Amino acid sequence: MSKLDKKKAQAKIKQLREAIEFHNYRYYVLDDPEVPDAEYDRLMRELQALEAQYPELVTPDSPTQRVGGEPLEGFEEVQHLVPMLSLENAFDEAEVQAFDKRIHDRLKMDGDIEYVAEPKLDGLAISLLYEAGKLVRAATRGDGRVGENVTQNARTIRSIPLHLQGKDFPQRLEVRGEVYLPKAGFIKLNQAQEKKGEKLFANPRNAAAGSLRQLDPKITATRPLEMYCYSLGLAEGAALPDTHFKILQKLKQWGLRVSPEIKSVNGVAGCLEYFAMMENKREQLPYEIDGVVFKVNQIALQEKLGFVSRAPRWAIAHKFPAEEAVTKLLAVDFQVGRTGALTPVARLEPVFVGGATVSNATLHNMDEIKRKDIQIGDTVIIRRAGDVIPEVVSAIPSKRPKNAQQIKLPGRCPVCNSEVVQLEGEAIARCSGGLYCPAQRKEAIKHFASRKAMDIEGLGDKLVDQLVEIGLIEHVDDLYKLNVKQLAELERMGEKSAENLIAALEKSKQTTLAKFIYALGIREVGEATAEALAMHFHSLENIMQANEEALIEVPDVGPIVAGHIYSFFRQPHNLEVIKSLQQAGIHWDESEKPAGDLPLAGNTYVLTGTLESMSRDQAKEKLQKLGAKVTGSVSSKTTAVIAGEKAGSKLTKAEKLGVTVLDETALMRLLKQ
Ligand code: IVH
Repeated sequence: MSKLDKKKAQAKIKQLREAIEFHNYRYYVLDDPEVPDAEYDRLMRELQALEAQYPELVTPDSPTQRVGGEPLEGFEEVQHLVPMLSLENAFDEAEVQAFDKRIHDRLKMDGDIEYVAEPKLDGLAISLLYEAGKLVRAATRGDGRVGENVTQNARTIRSIPLHLQGKDFPQRLEVRGEVYLPKAGFIKLNQAQEKKGEKLFANPRNAAAGSLRQLDPKITATRPLEMYCYSLGLAEGAALPDTHFKILQKLKQWGLRVSPEIKSVNGVAGCLEYFAMMENKREQLPYEIDGVVFKVNQIALQEKLGFVSRAPRWAIAHKFPAEEAVTKLLAVDFQVGRTGALTPVARLEPVFVGGATVSNATLHNMDEIKRKDIQIGDTVIIRRAGDVIPEVVSAIPSKRPKNAQQIKLPGRCPVCNSEVVQLEGEAIARCSGGLYCPAQRKEAIKHFASRKAMDIEGLGDKLVDQLVEIGLIEHVDDLYKLNVKQLAELERMGEKSAENLIAALEKSKQTTLAKFIYALGIREVGEATAEALAMHFHSLENIMQANEEALIEVPDVGPIVAGHIYSFFRQPHNLEVIKSLQQAGIHWDESEKPAGDLPLAGNTYVLTGTLESMSRDQAKEKLQKLGAKVTGSVSSKTTAVIAGEKAGSKLTKAEKLGVTVLDETALMRLLKQ
């Protein structure tokens, strides 16, 4: 590039910086980028090149400086202009009702109060000070009066604007919000920490705090921190709207990021409804929240209500039940799974956690027990989040009793007494009983009947246990030999349910080759591999005949999986079961077109977010029928990401990698082929 004269360079630099900040605003605040990433990168490179020619024109508020400056010796103290308060907590509905009543009483008002309901982000509070629209200082909350100056670090966070947008912002504006680490960023960060042999962060909040309070801003710059604003500290030199909700809209106009989950609601009923809605949504959100916050919307009413000690009377945090709790590990049993894998299960002193009473939790495997140094008698931390199986997170070493006992892997299967074997280098120990072991048989039948396999409606886990225990069935093919009379005689089963189950069994006979392969429960052959096998070989006969070399030809099948498949079809018992299933009438359409001829053959899609017209599983099935491959993670090889409502990190990744993104309408068009 030829060298511009300094004056021209200065003007160009200004223009580039403004353009970059505008695109940041579109991307982070409006969630609606105007240009592709490549264009953004081009502007950034142009700015970097000009700044390299004229280093004297580089200022700390240039977007190129988001990589972080020199490390600090320590953080300076910052006196907050207006104290940063905290929130009172409510742990149940009654406490929210009491909060609403206190407000009515104080204001001597009848009727519903208007509230703003917000997610309670689980990160750390930050204060941002803008003067003449420029970010001049960022500070942590500290004790509420004095915090730490983290300006250098805040500048590395791309959702924090270095300059405000528009013109009508207050001359001096202090906004508050939460800095947090998204769930995906947290997982990635811990993977990187583990690789480097460094300490893992316990949760995204600790990781966010550790990252923001880093003396070396270059380290902060590598952490994918984000921020949402939720309140105002100070605004001088501009009139403000009269409600909190409208103020938030203003903040957004000025380029500050505000959560799209924030809603205005009516009365305590509206608050409680919002709480229930967010509790449901919690798992899908790309970041952690630990509750919701309700704030009186009218600023005049907020002012009338004022504060008690260090919290406002006009706001309350309605917390979700804690997801971690402390209890005692009483004993450990070993459960046997479908492939014989032994899972240590902790028997606990019952404890209320994540909204339910938990008395069992998984300890995963022996390696995990060793790594976490857990013994029977220990006081342990249990975690139960959403629908995930509760797990033992760690033991508290200082509380270990003298008589604590080591957890030992049994030498024999607790169900069938066969020998337990653990192969070199494998974390998992297995019962060697195979189909002799009733536990393995039960699990194999449950898998066979499951939704993504043969989809036998009404054949639940308890019923399978019962059927195997009384000897009515031994293997999966026995299911199709059952009759209404036998079933109707069972405990907790009537004539009607028996008839329904027989009808469901009948219905399951019409299936697909992929589902059938998956249902067989071959080790390490999941849904995607079963699909790939069906696509590649077209018939069961071909798969059964294939040697390991031929099996490795299938995408995703490596030597280990090929070995499992090959040996599965060499067991006389398995062949008998397959024959018997086919004789019972299980069938599929073998004339389904080979993948190569199908319209979407060779294309790979990733589904994310919520679709309106069908579930993701249904969309997946339809795409696969057209020859496409559907996977769970986005890479540069992905043909397109299909994004429904509220798509999260996969969509972001697609945009980063420049992968095509399709909406639901485009999906429908694709499926019409
Ligand atoms: S408002 C005067 N709104 O929760 C009100 N705080 O327990 C001050 N937090 O220190 C806070 N999400 O770090 C507010 N939507 C939200 C919030 C929120 C998370 C945090 C914040 C605060 C703490 C209080």
